[in-house]
Amino acid sequence: MSISLLNKVVLITGASSGIGRASAVEFAKQGAKLILVARRKNRLDGLAKELKSQYETESLTIQLDVSDKDAVESQLNNLPVEWKDVDILVNNAGLALTTDKIQEGNIDNWDIMIDTNIKGLLYVTRQLITGMVNRNSGHIINIGSIAGQEAYPCGNVYAATKHAVRAINQSLRMDLLGSAIRISEIAPGAVETEFSEVRWNDKDKADAFYSDFSPLVAEDIADAVIYCATRPLHVDVAQITLYPTAQASATQLHRGKSLIQNIANPPTLARKE
Ligand SMILES: NC(=O)c1ccc[n+]([C@@H]2O[C@H](COP(=O)([O-])OP(=O)(O)OC[C@H]3O[C@@H](n4cnc5c(N)ncnc54)[C@H](OP(=O)(O)O)[C@@H]3O)[C@@H](O)[C@H]2O)c1
Repeated sequence: MSISLLNKVVLITGASSGIGRASAVEFAKQGAKLILVARRKNRLDGLAKELKSQYETESLTIQLDVSDKDAVESQLNNLPVEWKDVDILVNNAGLALTTDKIQEGNIDNWDIMIDTNIKGLLYVTRQLITGMVNRNSGHIINIGSIAGQEAYPCGNVYAATKHAVRAINQSLRMDLLGSAIRISEIAPGAVETEFSEVRWNDKDKADAFYSDFSPLVAEDIADAVIYCATRPLHVDVAQITLYPTAQASATQLHRGKSLIQNIANPPTLARKE
């Protein structure tokens, strides 16, 4: 059983790429109205145009750096009246920067990750949650990570930010207990998006990372987002962890496409790597 998302107002941060963009497409298919947020406005406008022509979607695009507290406050406090009652918030904007040992870490990169993944998520949530509480309705879906469940070598500060997302998620559910507001966290393993290119600032390295196993794709995570959003109102999906079949933990990735094919067709194919 699922509920309708027709005409629901959905705000998605980081809608210009990857998981946020794929989630926007899935919400559009469900007839939702979309507030698309990111720094790259041209990409948001392109997406809004595409969704309008394919699904008749009404969209509002907002150029916003979620780590800019004042900008978040002024932009989200001044939403046009028909957009201000946000039903579903997808806190997706986030990034990892480099994989360094802490003793070799770049403090500016740490600041950007903390400011975006933790503080940005909190700033956006704080602006929208008052309305949700007043209306006694709403759903906040936070995109965490398996890095929020385990640290891994050289993942230090990124993992810390995603542990924070997990803690914020748990706290939100406790603080909002007694209200009708729902809180969900989706924690993906490796998803092929622009994430690794941003992390290493190196497209070839990113392409190589995904080249010899079948990673998750952004649509897999968008599927989980829609699953959470369409449960009946008495159901709150607290947490979903999604791994590629070829991944068992942040540090265990089975590489070799041929083996993945063998898993799909075990009786006939010989194992080749
Ligand atoms: N890909 C993975 O393997 C993976 C695994 C687990 C969790 N995640 C999480 O999934 C989320 C989405 O990542 P993705 O994989 O879809 O990567 P992506 O393709 O690089 O997308 C990241 C999005 O975040 C936005 N963003 C980054 N900094 C921002 C800021 N300061 N203000 C506003 N928007 C900002 C980017 O938009 P602009 O640059 O246009 O601002 C972009 O739309 C992140 O929270 C990430 O930590 C990813």
